[in-house]
Amino acid sequence: MPQPNAADVKSIKIVIVGAGSVGVTTAYALLLDRLAADIVLIDIDKNRAMGEVMDLSHAAHFAQARVRVGDYEDCAHAAAVIITAGVNQKPGQTRLDLVKTNYALFRDVVPRIARHAPDTILVVATNPVDVLTHAAHHLSGFPLERVIGSGTAMDTTRFRHELGKHFGVNPRNVHAMIVGEHGDSQLPVWSLATICGMRLHDYCRAARMEHDEAALEACAKRTREAAYEIIRRKGKTNYGVASVLVSILQPIVTDSDAIMTVSRVGTYAGIQDVALSMPCKLNRHGAYQDVPLLLSELEEAELRESAQSIKEVLMSLEK
Ligand code: LAC
Repeated sequence: MPQPNAADVKSIKIVIVGAGSVGVTTAYALLLDRLAADIVLIDIDKNRAMGEVMDLSHAAHFAQARVRVGDYEDCAHAAAVIITAGVNQKPGQTRLDLVKTNYALFRDVVPRIARHAPDTILVVATNPVDVLTHAAHHLSGFPLERVIGSGTAMDTTRFRHELGKHFGVNPRNVHAMIVGEHGDSQLPVWSLATICGMRLHDYCRAARMEHDEAALEACAKRTREAAYEIIRRKGKTNYGVASVLVSILQPIVTDSDAIMTVSRVGTYAGIQDVALSMPCKLNRHGAYQDVPLLLSELEEAELRESAQSIKEVLMSLEK
């Protein structure tokens, strides 16, 4: 990924709403990647936010950047506002279990951001991220491309990590995607997964290795269940999603047209006005162009199921 030049970074402000573990880890990852000169943390608990900022400022020292506690008026002229605020999954909870609490929070937070930063790009991380990306689009009145959910960018990262381990190759050499819901109905796109430009069974033949369907399905299962397993052990996830959020900001800040599976409101497998993850081109305008996939009939049907499950949650919110 191209790095922004120092002059560009000097004009970049990123605001993070929510100084919980995902928010502050994202701030730290932004510092390490030197993507912004000004990082603002907004949180209802200003005392704790100040403690995080005091600590982060000692890291900012090495990045020629500043980190500060702010309020919604500080969203003005931000290149992007990342929303991480909300309750997160407890062991045994699904992401969809969080919807009522976090939707109520979004009804307060999103209009306040939009009022002070009508031209910014919203990047939503709070779960259930697809439902809340849809909510942020409607609550902000922003165009589709300027409301991006981290979505299955997290799952695609995990999927490539699992397949890389299985095939013994660097995950960057595995082109495989998870699309649909960032949740239990997510969809591995096996028909388009490649290594060295070869579909996986062709790669197995070329690499003289067994094409082990059961092992590949286990990779998809570990991907789908990764967050549950991590939360069961440490009570939350933060590092992976923080780095994914920074990887989404990268092409926005550098205007570099990266293709990522992020969540965006649209029509998926015939289901209208729902947010799901599919490949999108990202640049300074946001997620400005979707990249339609040639899915198999089975994959199209599974995507429709994923879209329908999100649609039902959205309809429950309107009651
Ligand atoms: C996870 C959270 C971000 O998958 O949903 O780690």
